[in-house]
Amino acid sequence: MNRKVTVIGSGHVGATAARGIADKELADVVLLDILEGVPQGKALDMLEACPIEGSDSHVLGTNDYADTAGSDIVVITAGLARKPGMSRDDLLMKNHAIIKSVTEQVVLHSPDCIIMPVTNPLDAMCQVVYRVSKFPRERVIGMAGVLDSARMRTFIASELNVSVENTHVFVLGGHGDTMVPLPRYSTVAGVPITELLDSKTIDRIVKRTASGGAEIVKLLGTGSAYYAPGSAIVEMVDAILKDKKKILPCAVFLQGEYGIHDLFVGVPVKLGSQGIEEIVKITLSAEEQAALLKSAAAVKELVDVLKV
Ligand code: APR
Repeated sequence: MNRKVTVIGSGHVGATAARGIADKELADVVLLDILEGVPQGKALDMLEACPIEGSDSHVLGTNDYADTAGSDIVVITAGLARKPGMSRDDLLMKNHAIIKSVTEQVVLHSPDCIIMPVTNPLDAMCQVVYRVSKFPRERVIGMAGVLDSARMRTFIASELNVSVENTHVFVLGGHGDTMVPLPRYSTVAGVPITELLDSKTIDRIVKRTASGGAEIVKLLGTGSAYYAPGSAIVEMVDAILKDKKKILPCAVFLQGEYGIHDLFVGVPVKLGSQGIEEIVKITLSAEEQAALLKSAAAVKELVDVLKV
């Protein structure tokens, strides 16, 4: 194929995303990890699924960045999960070191790629990738909002007993408890949910969306979500490779938009072959704007710890 997507980290999220990209025949896929054998084994398994899926994508597993050369998109899912006894800051510092070294290698081998960070804490890791890569902001696009929106769409569809395809949702802010779902801009077949659901139900849905990741972590006991994150990555890759100009919520480096300066925060953007082709601005109420700034402040705290 004439498109190449590299996924760094062959764990749960990385492997799920790689499989989705190959199944949909969006590109050839390179799966890279520091673990020896794991990316090779998973990639071969995926490749052997391709005849059944009707896909001619090639899937390669590797430990060598030379194999990633010339990628159109590099998705970064490498990182550590928080272990018992590890503070949030410990995790932050450990993933910072991983993301920094991964980014240096990515830039060396694919200087023109679009980088899609996925590793948490997402917005802070995006900032690390942006600073280390020195890429223009159009080419560093964090995956979070598509996942958060998908969660909210799931809950709205189930509450109203309608197809998920009829739902459309806006989620702004950092990827965490402070995210800002916007019910006013969230619709079912074009009708705002504020006209379809009472405020108590909307509050419940909003809270469940904001703690959507934690809900899965608690159920799994070990590890975190990967099916929906994998699908979210695939949707963004699809929008970029097909130059769809699709408006999706992504973590981007804001330079004054929404009153936020020099910080990665989730906002709606137009995704196409150039990466971020437009930052979409919508009017926020005073309350929504305050919630967004509060969310940005939470991201800023982490970024300040990392000094990036
Ligand atoms: N280079 C390449 N791969 C690495 C590196 C590195 N320097 N360090 C760790 N990895 C790999 C691990 O070997 C592991 O295979 O990253 C992978 C992470 O996989 P999982 O532990 O299964 O984590 P996963 O559930 O995939 O989540 C990855 O995405 O959604 C976020 O919060 C999640 O930050 C986490 C990330």
